[in-house]
Amino acid sequence: MGRRCWPRRALAAACLGAALLLLGAAPRALSPAFENSLGSGWLGGKRRSPLQMLYDLDQGPSSALAEVHRQRRDLLRRACSRHTRRQRLLGPEDLRHVLVDDAHGLLYCYVPKVACTNWKRVLLALSGHARGDPLAIPAHEAHAPGRLPSLADFSPAEINRRLRAYLAVLFVREPFERLASAYRNKFARPYSAAFQQRYGTRIVRRLRPRAHPDALARGHDVHFAEFLAYLLDPRTRREEPFNEHWERAHALCHPCRLRYDVVGKFETLAEDSAFVLGLVGASGLRFPAPPPRAKGAAARDLAERLFRDISPFYQRRLFDLYRMDFLLFNYSAPSYLRLH
Ligand SMILES: *[C@@H]1O[C@H](CO)[C@@H](O)[C@H](O)[C@H]1NC(C)=O
Repeated sequence: MGRRCWPRRALAAACLGAALLLLGAAPRALSPAFENSLGSGWLGGKRRSPLQMLYDLDQGPSSALAEVHRQRRDLLRRACSRHTRRQRLLGPEDLRHVLVDDAHGLLYCYVPKVACTNWKRVLLALSGHARGDPLAIPAHEAHAPGRLPSLADFSPAEINRRLRAYLAVLFVREPFERLASAYRNKFARPYSAAFQQRYGTRIVRRLRPRAHPDALARGHDVHFAEFLAYLLDPRTRREEPFNEHWERAHALCHPCRLRYDVVGKFETLAEDSAFVLGLVGASGLRFPAPPPRAKGAAARDLAERLFRDISPFYQRRLFDLYRMDFLLFNYSAPSYLRLH
């Protein structure tokens, strides 16, 4: 079953190769030739690479978890071919969010508000920081620029080599829960003065004709409706790309251009993380405890509560803005939306 997937990855890499300065020969197909070429060189042949581990799982007796991930990959690929038109070419800078673990043969595309702090901690722990204990790594250290190499730091040939041989993983989340979580973290709570200063003041200036001087100076009291109006205002993206906390996951990770082997979900974070760590051969590494069920429900409630006060017109336009993330990752339109 999985066999079908590999040549497409090669193809995606080939397209990317062309996009990136036309470097490198056409990449070889990944199976079964890749079995030999990768198997021998990998860590002195001592261990199978995570990508080979996934390949084995797909060829072997069916495991429920491997089947879930195979279906997610298939759904993503079908949604991509149905919904994407000609796309602009990618350059290295477009791959800034894809982090690289050369020692394990792993690529992880991080999407803020989807447990990315913990995944960055895990990548650091995998490379030996904090004696392999992710939780001993402070959040600010996990996010410090340059701590983890990004695909964007490599030459096109080096990028393509990694895209062909490494297990590529991304984690996604229900788009409106993610958006509600970003709003709460960056605007509704006092601890993000930097965001309020940078974006809050801009939103107030643009949207409130007779704003209070205090709000103009601090940007500390932006309403959810104002935040959405800012997102939907065409001027916003003309000025600069969305901030990564509310940029669409597909625009950060390019899942229709790069071949992702595992689509992890925030909603099943513990299982999906364990699946990836198993492939990487680091089952012993403890993924930091995901939010308890109660907090998951709270995130859903928060999104529902915030969207309740938004007019159907804005709800529809916002759904359009995030539509690709809903479609590609198999999220249905939330029942609280009034789309018709
Ligand atoms: C897509 O979502 C539906 C409804 O939640 C679910 O039944 C189905 O198994 C999902 N498909 C995949 C491939 O994840």
